[in-house]
Amino acid sequence: MSTSAEPGRTWPLVGRAAELDDLDDLLSTAADGVGVTVLLEGEAGVGKTGLVDALRGSARLLDVELRSAQASDVRSWPFALLSDALLVRSSAAGHGAGRSPVETELADLLDAMYADPARSVARYDRAAELFAALLRRHGDIRPWALVLEDVHKADAPSLEVLLQLAHEGAVPRALVVLTMRPVPYRPELAELVAAWTRAGARYLELRPLSARATVELAENLVGGPVGPSLRGTLATTGGNPRLIADVVRTARAAGALVASDGVLDSAGTRWMTPLDEVVRQRVEYLGPDVLALLGQASVLGTSFVIADLASLAGDPVADCWRTLRHGLAAGVVRARGDRLVFGHDLVREALYNGLEPDQRRALHARAAWALRQAGAPAQIVTGHLERAR
Ligand SMILES: Nc1ncnc2c1ncn2[C@@H]1O[C@H](COP(=O)(O)OP(=O)(O)OP(=O)(O)O)[C@@H](O)[C@H]1O
Ligand SMILES: [Mg+2]
Repeated sequence: MSTSAEPGRTWPLVGRAAELDDLDDLLSTAADGVGVTVLLEGEAGVGKTGLVDALRGSARLLDVELRSAQASDVRSWPFALLSDALLVRSSAAGHGAGRSPVETELADLLDAMYADPARSVARYDRAAELFAALLRRHGDIRPWALVLEDVHKADAPSLEVLLQLAHEGAVPRALVVLTMRPVPYRPELAELVAAWTRAGARYLELRPLSARATVELAENLVGGPVGPSLRGTLATTGGNPRLIADVVRTARAAGALVASDGVLDSAGTRWMTPLDEVVRQRVEYLGPDVLALLGQASVLGTSFVIADLASLAGDPVADCWRTLRHGLAAGVVRARGDRLVFGHDLVREALYNGLEPDQRRALHARAAWALRQAGAPAQIVTGHLERAR
C-alpha cells in the first residue's frame, strides 16, 4: 500500500543521501534479526513520506517484507492504523483467505466492535492483546519492516498498543518507523515518544533542505537551470520541499515560467496571488488562533521581538508565547533568544497579503506605536506609519 501524501513524485529525492543511508543501515540491522525503532519527526511537507517511500526499494533488495499504513483524520476508528498495516484486507484476499487464526479472530472482533461500539470494552482489550501479539510474532518467519505514518493523527487504541510494546522493548526482528509532525501536540503521543525513547528508539529529525538542494529540487521540477527571479522566491521556502514544489507548480500553472538564455525564470508578479493562496492553505492546519497571531506578526517583518508582538496584539507576553508555541513546534516560526524568526518567508508574505487592507493599515499603525514605545529607530517607525495610511 502506498502512503504517498501527494500522488506520483516523478522526480528524484534530493539532499537526503545521509538520511537514506541511516535508514538503510537500520534496515540491514533489522534484516540481520535485530529489532530497531525509529521516530522520524519533521515539519509538514519536509519529506517524511518521500523518505520512507524510498525505503521500499531497499526493502525489496534485502528481501524484507515492508508493511505500512498512514493515519488519517477520516479513518480514525479504533485500531484503524494497526489494522491497515497488519490485516490483509478481506476484499483483496477473497474474504480473508490467507489470514492466520489470530488475524481472523482480530478481523471478526473489529467487525463486532464497529457494529456495536457501546458493548466493546472487553473486545477492545482482546483486540489490543491480539495486535500486540501479531506485532511481536510477525518476524518469527522472517525479518520485516513496519512503517506507520503520521502517528500524530493515529487512533488512540493503536497508540495504546504501541505504548505497551515500548515497555517490552524493540519489536523483535523488525525495523519499526513511526513518522510524525511536531504538531498537533497530543499527550498520548508524547507519552508514546517518551516510552520509545526509553526503549532505545532512534530519533531522526528531518530538517529542511539546504539552499543548494532547494535549487536542485526546483531544477528537477522544471527540467533545467532556473534563473535569479525564481531563485529569489525559492529562497523564501525555508527549504521545505512541498513549498518548493508549490512555487514551481504555481509559476508554471500561471504561465509565469519563461525561457531565456538557457534558463527558466519567473516573470512578473501576477502568479504571487495564487501562490499566496496555496501557501495559506498549507498552514491552515495550525488553526485560527495561531494563524491570527502569526498574521499580526507578519506586519513586524521576518524577525520580530516577542514583546513587540505582544503590545501589537494587546495581549500579555505569556499569552502570545502560549499561542505561538504551536507555530514554534510546527517550524513556522523559530526562536532566537527573545526574537522569533519566520521559518519560511513565503508563509509570512502569504499571511501578510491575506490580511484585510483595513486591518493591515491598523496593524501598521499599532506597530508604529509599539515600536516607538520600545525605542525602535525613527525610520522603522516612519515605515510603519507610511503603510498605515
Ligand atoms: N528530498 C526530496 N526531494 C524531492 N522531492 C521531495 C523531497 N522531499 C519531499 N519531496 C516532495 O515534496 C512533497 C512533500 O513531501 P512529503 O509528502 O514527503 O512530506 P511529509 O513530511 O510527509 O509531509 P506531511 O507532514 O504532510 O506528511 C512531496 O511531493 C514529495 O514527493
Ligand atoms: Mg507525509
